[in-house]
Amino acid sequence: MTATYGVKEFVEDARRIMEVPGGVRDREAAVRELEPLLRRALDGPGWTDPAYATGAEGGRRGYRYYENRDGSLFVYGVFFRHGHPTPVHDHVTWGIIGVYSGLQRTTRYRRLDDGSTPGRCSVALEEDSVLGHGATYPLLPPHDIHRIEVVSEGEGLSIHVLGADLRRQRRRIFDVAAGTCEEVEGVTMAR
Ligand SMILES: [Fe+2]
Repeated sequence: MTATYGVKEFVEDARRIMEVPGGVRDREAAVRELEPLLRRALDGPGWTDPAYATGAEGGRRGYRYYENRDGSLFVYGVFFRHGHPTPVHDHVTWGIIGVYSGLQRTTRYRRLDDGSTPGRCSVALEEDSVLGHGATYPLLPPHDIHRIEVVSEGEGLSIHVLGADLRRQRRRIFDVAAGTCEEVEGVTMAR
């Protein structure tokens, strides 16, 4: 039997769960509800449909599946390249990440300090594993600190379901060993 629950159906469910009048009250519960749906959808059609492709005009190649007007729900696909790991960074918004292709070493950290000292960011390793097709994980601030490194040859497609457009989001890059962080804006972590 062919899986028919794919991008289109997932976006419909994501909208039903996240686009509620007055906004989502319990973000963690909403993310918990949405994550298994993404896992299911990753085995369905649409993720590499050229109709969703972006970056034809010199921008970074990827896919945009859905983006709402107020920027509170964003579903897109980004390619990470072997040999070009992201820095350790956060998103400052809720998210669910899914691995579509490639083996993606994913390192996640917990934030330890309360953020009261500017530039000081103390984090502890939470998980470090190599994820393949169908793996998903939630990101919930302030513990949405992570790093992605494609360890297989070529590229890995990562599906991002986020509560903000990261191109306009003020967020942070972490130096784990030094216990410091710096704010960045309008940058991409895919290099
Ligand atoms: Fe990220």
